[in-house]
Amino acid sequence: MTTDLPYLNLREMEVAAASVLSPAALAYYVGGANDEVTLRANREGYAALRLRPRMLVDVTAIDLRTTVLGLPLDFPVGIAPCALHGLVHPDAEVATARAAASVGSVMTLSTMSHRPLEDVAQAAPERLWFQLYLYHDREVSRALIQRAQASGARALVLTVDAPYLGRREAILRTPVHIAPGTVLPNVGPRTPGSEGVDDLSYFNTLLDKGLSWADLAWLRAQTTLPIVLKGLLTAEDAALAVEHGCHVWVSNHGGRQLDTAVTALEALPEIVDAVAGRAEIYLDGGVTRGTDVLKSLALGAKAVFIARPALYGLALGGEAGVRHTLELLRGELRLAMALCGKVQISDLGPDLIFPH
Ligand code: FNR
Ligand code: LAC
Repeated sequence: MTTDLPYLNLREMEVAAASVLSPAALAYYVGGANDEVTLRANREGYAALRLRPRMLVDVTAIDLRTTVLGLPLDFPVGIAPCALHGLVHPDAEVATARAAASVGSVMTLSTMSHRPLEDVAQAAPERLWFQLYLYHDREVSRALIQRAQASGARALVLTVDAPYLGRREAILRTPVHIAPGTVLPNVGPRTPGSEGVDDLSYFNTLLDKGLSWADLAWLRAQTTLPIVLKGLLTAEDAALAVEHGCHVWVSNHGGRQLDTAVTALEALPEIVDAVAGRAEIYLDGGVTRGTDVLKSLALGAKAVFIARPALYGLALGGEAGVRHTLELLRGELRLAMALCGKVQISDLGPDLIFPH
């Protein structure tokens, strides 16, 4: 382990982070929508799946390397897009990006970041994806897409599950107000008259509620970057994504959007069938253990992404804290592979899952 933080696992980090986060940051980071049924199910789903390990395999050397859209990863875990890293650490998304780059991972930068995407791109050269929220004002979105491409982002991740932000009751009580006068660089200055509105509610008003499959042609015309649709949960939508030339990120937005929606892990098998190898498939939601990564890959994900665990790492130790999170997962994945008798990522398949 190259960091000297004392935490043995991601859950310990979550507990420790809860005591250093401000009440507003805690409410924003931890919470899910409504009764948080889906938020809980994300984790419970992993715990409920059992592994079928194979024995008497030479596991002296374990190779965790893979690729996402041609980008080599040292292990199959990336950073999911999260708004407002600056709520917990002054280096914000730059620290998270440095940590991701330092361990050969990939950083997905949220549209709603504290730091400009150019700075984050410099912190993670070649290892940046940009998450796009499409605004009503397409000219603002067009400029953002051009900046992303010019900065060296390797993919555009269009989030499609949030035409309206979900009802997270914790932040209705404790809303997020970033420091007055702060301009979020990828969001732009507040429109006059919006003073006093909390930041999430304001952001909500910018999002294009009319976004539909027909708009993907517009997006395709703006960029040569690969497009990943984040937030798909059904075979039907995955098939449409492929028909539109996009890759698939299976996600319920960390249980923050539609409560009681299916989990990514539950949705994965039908999506793998629908995609039938024609596009890459990623997943997020509730990944906190190496065995969670293993199960996701066994069921057909190319890589998994983490959001809250990275934020907790950032809160506890900045760049080193995020690195600690990623290194814990990498170490756990390596051990889990060895104990399952699997030596490389391409060995992982549905035979690992019980019942088979
Ligand atoms: C998010 N998520 C998110 N997704 C997105 O596409 N754009 C964004 O700006 C954000 N912002 C955001 C903020 C916070 C505080 C959280 C916790 C989450 C969703 C995120 O990318 C991911 O889909 C889920 O959080 C699931 O992963 P975890 O948190 O279970 O690892
Ligand atoms: C969130 C948005 C910004 O989940 O994606 O808070």
